[in-house]
Amino acid sequence: MTTTTTQPLLEAEHLTKRYEDGVLALDNVSFTVSPGQIYAMLGGNGAGKSTAINLFLNFIEPTDGEARIDGIASHRDPLAAKARVAYVSEQVRLYPSFTAIQNVDFFARLAGKTSYTREDYRQALLRVGLQPEAHDKRLKGFSKGMQQKTGIAIAILKDAPAILLDEPTSGLDPKAGREFVRLLQDLRDEGKAILMSTHDLFRAKEVADMVGIMNQGRLVMQRTRDELHGEDLEALYVRYMAGYMEG
Ligand SMILES: Nc1ncnc2c1ncn2[C@@H]1O[C@H](COP(=O)(O)OP(=O)(O)O)[C@@H](O)[C@H]1O
Ligand SMILES: [Mg+2]
Repeated sequence: MTTTTTQPLLEAEHLTKRYEDGVLALDNVSFTVSPGQIYAMLGGNGAGKSTAINLFLNFIEPTDGEARIDGIASHRDPLAAKARVAYVSEQVRLYPSFTAIQNVDFFARLAGKTSYTREDYRQALLRVGLQPEAHDKRLKGFSKGMQQKTGIAIAILKDAPAILLDEPTSGLDPKAGREFVRLLQDLRDEGKAILMSTHDLFRAKEVADMVGIMNQGRLVMQRTRDELHGEDLEALYVRYMAGYMEG
């Protein structure tokens, strides 16, 4: 009999971050995300979600522990680590005076993808739900949701094995949110390892294979989809937040 083990693609190991001003934003947090898995990190403002994601991207350095992408510690070999991950930030930073196509072309090339055609860009933008009429319009006229979609198209075109998303549904209306969930599920089914932070309990339960609850820099609960079956995630969330405060 052979056993196949899927090596986790994203690993936080004893990940700890104390900012220069003394704030302990992340306190000994460990979790993994495997290919074909969506991990939803829940938690209120200031819980440490963005800090965790920023450590994977080496935007900041860990005080202790490490964040690894495909086995590579981000703070040791940032270029190699970052080549294996696509990132969609809460506040998409694209070029307002470029069109959607020009933006995806620019950022795809920046990620080293030089063989895409205009048709590939159109397909990627259609896939994330950006209507054809918008493809050649400048981003400055776009809603937050449309900009977010363009950012996700760029992430898809990078074709990295891991995707990190920080509050990706915050600017989306309910219809766009639903489309977004379907897109994440497709990417998961293609074998991507996906880590997203969110406030949105409903979407987290809908889409995640693993849910982690963060509170004051600690991972206070982690459960698989099966373990959450039939559970009221909102009640659990409230209980874990309250429990931590009292304890
Ligand atoms: N650059 C920084 N310098 C100092 N403290 C920070 C910095 N970024 C975040 N923090 C603090 O770290 C904690 C966690 O923040 P963050 O990771 O942004 O949480 P979340 O994304 O869950 O809202 C908060 O107390 C926040 O004020
Ligand atoms: Mg945040």
